[in-house]
Amino acid sequence: TYVVTDNCIRCKYMDCVEVCPVDCFYEGENMLVINPSECIDCGVCEPECPAEAILPDTENGLEKWLELNTKYSAEWPNITVKGEAPADADAMKGVEGKLEKFFS
Ligand code: SF4
Ligand code: F3S
Repeated sequence: TYVVTDNCIRCKYMDCVEVCPVDCFYEGENMLVINPSECIDCGVCEPECPAEAILPDTENGLEKWLELNTKYSAEWPNITVKGEAPADADAMKGVEGKLEKFFS
């Protein structure tokens, strides 16, 4: 599966939702997550994300993100249509420690 990681927090560009063939993105206030049990591993969303937030969970150290994507995709509503990114999305791109500071 692919997972959404901290680079999405407060960037939330939503380009990813438009390309997913199985509509497996879920929307929180500050970020999106992927439902790992619905993701078919096609990989098309990865290059679409301007913040480089989407990664295959086979990369090292992504266990916590797999857990977070699993947990919140069960709680948050499905999203299939791109909305408006936050006004300061570009300024938030690549900022460190976003999980600790901004995730709620
Ligand atoms: Fe959707 Fe494919 Fe991305 Fe999985 S890898 S979330 S199926 S676009
Ligand atoms: Fe987030 Fe990138 Fe999608 S910033 S909302 S994973 S396009």
